[in-house]
Amino acid sequence: MSNDLDDTLKQLVGEAKRAVGEAGDERALDDVRVRYLGKKGELTALLKSLGQLAPEDRPAAGARINAAKDELQDAIGARRQHLSREQMARALEAEQVDVTLPGRRDAGGGLHPVTQALLRMEDIFVGAGYSVVTGPEVENDYYNFEALNIPAHHPARAMHDTFYFADGTLLRTHTSPSQVHTMEREEPPIRVICPGRVYRRDSDLTHSPMFQQLEGLVIDRGISFADLKGTVIEFLQRFFEKELSVRFRPSYFPFTEPSAEVDVQCVQCLGEGCRVCSHTGWLEVMGCGVVHPNVLEMSGIDSETYSGFAFGMGIDRLAMLLYEVDDLRLFYDNDLRFLRQFN
Ligand code: FA5
Ligand code: MG
Repeated sequence: MSNDLDDTLKQLVGEAKRAVGEAGDERALDDVRVRYLGKKGELTALLKSLGQLAPEDRPAAGARINAAKDELQDAIGARRQHLSREQMARALEAEQVDVTLPGRRDAGGGLHPVTQALLRMEDIFVGAGYSVVTGPEVENDYYNFEALNIPAHHPARAMHDTFYFADGTLLRTHTSPSQVHTMEREEPPIRVICPGRVYRRDSDLTHSPMFQQLEGLVIDRGISFADLKGTVIEFLQRFFEKELSVRFRPSYFPFTEPSAEVDVQCVQCLGEGCRVCSHTGWLEVMGCGVVHPNVLEMSGIDSETYSGFAFGMGIDRLAMLLYEVDDLRLFYDNDLRFLRQFN
């Protein structure tokens, strides 16, 4: 009997240990444990069968079965430890972090080139004693035209290609309405610049339907065209930090008399003529003139005592020249490859 039991135990334990060795994960291992050591397991069944033995044989047989159980339990424990170490190693491998890789950085933002150009202009004028004021982008007919000596049916209105709203208000076509707001609000001497967005039905290499202007207005006793000319030339030299050829071309604006347009030598072709300057060698950067007495009077300023000059420059145009950009529309395409060059 005892030899029979030993053989049975040896065979069972051998079989069970092989199964333990083959168990590839915790679950398979647990199945093996249940098969041999569980309530209905094969070793458990042997223990239960002890009752059939003669009483004097039971203790020895019981001890041997228990020893076999311990042996198997140890084997299962060892396998479990092995499996969990393997599992840990796999996890560590999979979750490995290369601490030598460069970190992720936030992309640095930057100011838009047109904004940079504007800040540069503001710096120059503020340094010369001007203050910066702004005005509304939605205007009415009075401020955009009427008060600037452009009555209804005046042919100059056609040059403005205005966007109108249903209620008769409009998107300002230039920053000149801010001259009127300023004169209504302030007493001379006046020395302001008014930057802002303006809108026209206009689009090509050098025209955008929304663009930015910087208006300038100076009113005091004895202001003449010579003051305007000196101011504009001084400004352009500071802005470009070099001596670009500048010319004053006689022109017409209903709100100034005399009036001029200022051209700067095309930086793209240096005056040779190219598609940016429509083969003229020049780019128009601003309109200007001596404020028309009608305009002063309409805004409550005595034109006998005071005179003044005004100018309205294209900020985008000047930015184009400063940064040597050959198509104004690039400023508004929002292509990051273009914009990043100005960071
Ligand atoms: C005016 O708008 C006048 N208000 C300027 C002025 C102010 C004259 C004060 C006298 C006294 P003009 O339409 O020419 O003028 O525009 C002025 C400047 O804005 C132009 O020289 C040009 O540099 C720029 N500009 C005009 N249209 C566009 C456009 N569609 N896109 C980009 N820039 C433009
Ligand atoms: Mg013009």
